Formats: sequence, structure tokens, C-alpha cells
Amino acid sequence: MDIFSRRLTSSFLFFLFLSFTEAKEILVGGKTDAWKIPSSESDSLNRWAEKSRFRIGDSLAWKYDGGKDSVLQVTKEAYASCNTSNSIAEYKDGNTKVKLDRSGPFYFISGAKGHCEQGQKLHVVVLSQKHRYTGISPAPSPAEIEGPAIAPTSSAAGLKAGFLVTLGVVVLGLF
Ligand SMILES: *[C@@H]1O[C@H](CO)[C@@H](O)[C@H](O)[C@H]1NC(C)=O
Repeated sequence: MDIFSRRLTSSFLFFLFLSFTEAKEILVGGKTDAWKIPSSESDSLNRWAEKSRFRIGDSLAWKYDGGKDSVLQVTKEAYASCNTSNSIAEYKDGNTKVKLDRSGPFYFISGAKGHCEQGQKLHVVVLSQKHRYTGISPAPSPAEIEGPAIAPTSSAAGLKAGFLVTLGVVVLGLF
């Protein structure tokens, strides 16, 4: 391998590594006009959320007409009953970003009258730290990620170290 392709390969691996660790901004529904009453169950935002992966530090982003709609972050109970009267947070600027700063469930409903009842709601579950680096679907077990040379550990730091060692071995193998 010549020096140029070595450099290219190591930059590629470096960016691949970044893509595993960087916090992402995730557009809700994957497109700009997704915050609306779904036309069918299969079109619902929760179907989209089930296929997506949310990690601590990622942000959700909504784009909508702030004059007509809003995003309410609510409790599980308010989410289930579409109760808009006591939200945890209310956003109506049309360009809403919410940072997912902890693991566990987050519940959002539309503040527009009657919209939540017709399915305009979103439930996302943020994975806990120990699942952070299982970024590939279907998710490999921590042991697969760390490889046989490293003792199993449940800490995120251990996983990260394991990934770095694996990456190091790959890079060294190329040179
Ligand atoms: C909505 O929630 C508020 C506060 O929790 C509660 O007082 C109210 O009764 C609820 N409304 C309905 C229709 O359930």
C-alpha cells in the first residue's frame, strides 16, 4: 500500500470512529414536514422512532409552522391521555430542538387542538450508557465489540477503550 492510500485509509477510519461517538441532531420523522397528523398508522412518528436509535447527547429537531402547531414535552400519563394542560416544556417557534440529556423515555405531543388524539405524538427511548457503542444493527453484544483480548466490562469507558484498541489493531495492521 502506498503512503497516500494509507493516509486515506486512516482518515477514513478516523471519521468512521467519529461517527460512532459524535452526538447527532436527529430530524423528527426524517423529513421537514413530518410533525403533523399521520395519514395512517404505518406513517406514524412512533413507527419511525422504533427504527431509529437515540443516544444520550443527541438532539431531536422539529420543523413545523409555529403559527399553527407546537411541540409539548409531557409525562407518560399526559402522553397517553393527550392532556395538553400541564406540559413539562412547550415549544412553538417552528424550529424546535430538544437535547436528549438522559437515558429513558421522552414523550412529546402536538399542542394543536385535537392533533394528539389523531396520532400526532412521539415516544422515544434513549439507550443507557452501556449500550452506547452498539451502534450497528442488529446490535452486537459487548463481547463482540470488545473482542476476545479484553476482559468483559459493563462500563462505557471499557467499551470505548475496547473499540479504540480494536481500531488501533486495524490501523496497525494496515501499516
Ligand atoms: C390534565 O392534567 C392536569 C394536570 O395533571 C389535570 O389537572 C387535568 O384534570 C387533566 N385533564 C384531563 C382532561 O384529564
